[in-house]
Amino acid sequence: MGSPRNGPNNSPGSSPVDAPANNPLPGPAPDDGAGHPGNAGVATRGARIPSSPDRHHSEVTLRVNGAPRTLVVDHRSVLLDVLREQLRLTGAKKGCDHGQCGACTVLVDGRRVNSCLLPAVAQDGRDITTVEGLADGDDGDSGDAEDRADGADSEGGGERPAHAGLHPLQRAFIDRDAFQCGYCTPGQLCSAVGAIAEAESGHPSHVTDPSTPSGQPVALDADEIRERLSGNLCRCGAYPNIVRAVEDVIR
Ligand code: FES
Ligand code: FES
Repeated sequence: MGSPRNGPNNSPGSSPVDAPANNPLPGPAPDDGAGHPGNAGVATRGARIPSSPDRHHSEVTLRVNGAPRTLVVDHRSVLLDVLREQLRLTGAKKGCDHGQCGACTVLVDGRRVNSCLLPAVAQDGRDITTVEGLADGDDGDSGDAEDRADGADSEGGGERPAHAGLHPLQRAFIDRDAFQCGYCTPGQLCSAVGAIAEAESGHPSHVTDPSTPSGQPVALDADEIRERLSGNLCRCGAYPNIVRAVEDVIR
């Protein structure tokens, strides 16, 4: 990882940050006295977040779901933890924490990524889209946007008028029953958004016909969808209906 852009000595007049000195949100563990700050990676709930960067922290500005968010991040923090613990965007889930399950998938500058693997400090200035940012914010019920975006509360809540305001993929997942527990669903949704964009941009996959003209949009058949979403695991086995939901959207 390269040097942070905003070290402690070059931002004395830095703009206000989201994490004040007494912020109760999780923060870094104290240094262990041997030059190794404790608790690598994941911040400890209740620990202090400094009001200004020190040698273990930097101020970054992320554009999250269309809004700039300036905050101080621990250099060891990954994007997933910053989104969930500091920005309280809990749609992206922590499954394996090792880049193997896809539950943490978000879009960075439009490309899907495993946010559990990305140092947050390296995302300074980038556009981050989480599952909460896929909907346009108006689905006729303002009280539970996160759960709706998770796709976790579609049943039992009565009729919502055609799920207006949700992303077409979110609607298709609901219509197709493409989730059961819903834990993997935010990652599946973000990954599907990214996969569709990649195919439209001409990115081939492992199963793309080699005769497909380079750079031309790749048609997403069921094999392509399965291959492109193969990095997103679902313990409930909702795969068949996930494929159908994606097919509904690209038709
Ligand atoms: S939590 Fe990131 S890939 Fe599993
Ligand atoms: S719906 Fe339960 S893990 Fe996918």
